[in-house]
Amino acid sequence: NIYTLIMAGGKGTRLWPESTESKPKQYLSLVGSETLLGQTLERFDGAVDIDKRFIITTRDQSELAIDCSKDQVNKNNIIYEPTGRNTAPCILLSLAAIEAAGAKDEDIVAVMPSDHVILNKTGFRSSFEKAVKLSSESKTITTIGIPPHFPHTGYGYIKVADALGDGFKVEEFVEKPNFEKATAYLKTGKYVWNAGMFMAPLGVFKEEFKAHSPEMFNFYEDLKANLNEEAKLEEVYNKIPKDSIDYAIMEKSSRITLVKAEFDWNDLGSWEALEQVVDRVEGNTIIDSNGTFLKDATGNIIYAPDKHVSLINVQDLVVVSNDKAVMIVPKDDSQRVKEIVQHLKDNK
Ligand code: GDD
Ligand code: MG
Repeated sequence: NIYTLIMAGGKGTRLWPESTESKPKQYLSLVGSETLLGQTLERFDGAVDIDKRFIITTRDQSELAIDCSKDQVNKNNIIYEPTGRNTAPCILLSLAAIEAAGAKDEDIVAVMPSDHVILNKTGFRSSFEKAVKLSSESKTITTIGIPPHFPHTGYGYIKVADALGDGFKVEEFVEKPNFEKATAYLKTGKYVWNAGMFMAPLGVFKEEFKAHSPEMFNFYEDLKANLNEEAKLEEVYNKIPKDSIDYAIMEKSSRITLVKAEFDWNDLGSWEALEQVVDRVEGNTIIDSNGTFLKDATGNIIYAPDKHVSLINVQDLVVVSNDKAVMIVPKDDSQRVKEIVQHLKDNK
């Protein structure tokens, strides 16, 4: 049996004003007509039964999660975490819910992010199936590795060792190294980026939590016993230390394997990232608009649903307009939207 767990509790605001704390990017449909969460679920059509798909999010995102998952997930397979405590507690709670729903120790749980763009569905499916097989046969946590092309400091780096089955053994996992280290890793040619997907038999996940984060695993039975007691669950959940799975388990475990990605992947870390996943028209990336007039304008990224956009003699800008805000920023500075988000927070 294969279960999938989609983590949809992120609060990313890097695509402000379209993504906000109350509507993070997994609920947006910037690429294609489906939301990122909807696309994530669709990737499992034919591979994971509907009743074995789970989503974990916070209760305030409940409506969004239900809307975006339509007939792709049973409502009662949406797990609500009492508060956001990062991915390790979130996965621990989900394992308890999945076990309570009938999963056995040898069943595979595939933990997935909800906010990535993957255009090549066939490639994804092939890597996914290899990862499921490898984790099941080697009783390890199998990750998916993306060939790195620059020293990005926001990703996990995985050092690839000898071949094993359809994948590889892993020598080390380093979460978000600094720029110097990332540069050195890239030079060796032996590291890949962690795609943020983790496949393992349920029992292996539990054993690795127990071995490397007992201060979290100690609450496992308590979580399982209180899944339907909102207040009690919150009390237990709030005692679990906040940490990501990458630091809490992946950096410490020696039971990690890897399958190389046969697909391109983009985590939409900024407006600029959309250039890589949306085709250019007349030299510009038009994500949405109600027509455009572009004269001597190139390299711009345009998002303005229902609006006509005219650009004359401007290059490499991000031009965003929705019903709440207008933002114009040079493409190279598109990560500076965090300054706007901070400004608005401070002046609320
Ligand atoms: N339900 C829930 N609750 N989901 C969460 C929470 C939480 O508290 N925190 C994060 N998530 C979800 C996000 O929505 C996202 O889909 C996924 O979990 C990963 O969280 P991020 O916050 O986006 O992690 P990251 O990007 O900093 O790093 C991870 O992903 C990288 C690849 O994109 C790590 O696994 C890195 O090693 C990896 O390279
Ligand atoms: Mg991310």
